[in-house]
Amino acid sequence: MKNGLTSLEAWKALDKHYQDVKRITIKELFRQDTIRGNSLNLSAEGIYFDYSKHRITGKTLGLLFKLARERGLETKRNAMFSGEKINITEHRSVLHIALRAPKGSTIMVDGVNVVDQVHEVLEKMTDFAGKIRSGEWSGFTGKPIRNIVNIGIGGSDLGPVMAYEALKHYSKRELTFRFVSNIDGSDFAEAVHDLNPEETLFIVASKTFTTLETMTNAHTARSWTLNKLSDEAAIGRHFVALSTNEKEVAKFGIDTKNMFGFWDWVGGRYSMTSAIGLSTMIAIGPEHYYEMLAGFHKMDEHFRTAPLEKNIPVIMALLNVWYNNFFNAQTQAVLPYENYLKRFPAYLQQMTMESTGKYITLDGQKVDYQTGPVYWGEPGTNGQHSFYQLIHQGTKLIPCDFIGFKESLHNLPPHQDYLMANMIAQGEALAFGKTAEDVRNEGVDEKLIPHKVFEGNRPSSTFFLDKLSPVNLGKLVAMYEHSVFVQGVIWNVNPFDQMGVELGKVLAQNIISEIQQEPKPARHDSSTNALIHFYLK
Ligand code: F6P
Repeated sequence: MKNGLTSLEAWKALDKHYQDVKRITIKELFRQDTIRGNSLNLSAEGIYFDYSKHRITGKTLGLLFKLARERGLETKRNAMFSGEKINITEHRSVLHIALRAPKGSTIMVDGVNVVDQVHEVLEKMTDFAGKIRSGEWSGFTGKPIRNIVNIGIGGSDLGPVMAYEALKHYSKRELTFRFVSNIDGSDFAEAVHDLNPEETLFIVASKTFTTLETMTNAHTARSWTLNKLSDEAAIGRHFVALSTNEKEVAKFGIDTKNMFGFWDWVGGRYSMTSAIGLSTMIAIGPEHYYEMLAGFHKMDEHFRTAPLEKNIPVIMALLNVWYNNFFNAQTQAVLPYENYLKRFPAYLQQMTMESTGKYITLDGQKVDYQTGPVYWGEPGTNGQHSFYQLIHQGTKLIPCDFIGFKESLHNLPPHQDYLMANMIAQGEALAFGKTAEDVRNEGVDEKLIPHKVFEGNRPSSTFFLDKLSPVNLGKLVAMYEHSVFVQGVIWNVNPFDQMGVELGKVLAQNIISEIQQEPKPARHDSSTNALIHFYLK
């Protein structure tokens, strides 16, 4: 009641309606409406979205759209697109959509057209990426750059590494790309173990340029470079920075001419189309990079303009709310049937869980309902041979997102047919299961029948696109971004701050200073003291 959500008309109606729907099976819904699969789907911007295998009726959808309207979704969506400071805890606009707005468009923040600034940086990135790709930009000893190491963490790592892996097929294979994120020295050591500093460019990616992991790795990279090149002047040829913090970049010793900037209105987990995308642009080339931006923009426009009833991110988000809040589903699986998307679930984990993993509302009150689900997943078909058992026959309800492509990027028959057949079959098996009668008819021993029955009634969405391309990757990422925004609106949490990661960082700093100084103070709880003691012994 406290935060208004659970006292809304639509919410109360959904609560009541859930009592009816929870008894209906997906099988029954398809029996009642044999063309359900032809009606509960949407095609927009080249994405075919099938949401028929869900535990929903027309009434469920109607009430969910009503809920979105009662929550002011359309007004809030417009507020984001027009640059209002909707990130109220940090007093910032939220304008990742401006990062892919076409040149010549206008989005004003504090009297400045940010789209002009975006394109200035894009042009600088294009120029630099061209020089690296052509070999024009050489290292300190005159050798061309062959290795690009992105040092960053969270949004300054996951976007670049996910995009590189996803679009590897389009990348310049003569260049080697590595991504260092972890404070664990093994990450850096392994990333550079076979690289020659003379041919290596480090991209230090950090919005704040103060993040412990990134700065520690950047300093190690600096020493590694100087160890071989023995001249401070080499840093200018081997280090560039992606950041909003010019002062810290200069302090680190990177010439701010070699800095690619962005702005406080770009959240870390929404930053892959900002300067943070430099490694992506170097890998796939400016032309493909602009195609990716165009894909993002298409989905931005779809989300901005399509009515809620025809809006893919809106429907995705409302289905999440339905399962999360009424069926008490705790998690959402994302299952791309495209091996190049292997880091996509990890990327989505930050995007979704750092955004809606919050128990305090925008009004500063504690929620009296569940917020963000856990996102997780692996590419198919690998997942089928590890965790799908639990999705099919476990006790938990796990809504699944299947993502598939009509065409493979490799002409290797019969792989793609087998891959897509598996994806389609999983949705079918989850929804419709297999009855005891079916099993019995197969002549299975009576005792084994319960083990071989599939209850079914497990919901999934399927997203189908033509092929994994830069433009389609852009659409997919933006689709999830906007779905997260809608979930934030429904739950009334701020999807654009991340205060929940601060405490651990502060406590780690305390422990760092304690374990590096003599004598060791023991001023924590007895468990923490014992762990510090064990480490130091
Ligand atoms: O610790 C969380 C976080 O602030 C993320 O939101 C962000 O993407 C990451 O750290 C990295 O931050 P930065 O780009 O400032 O180094």
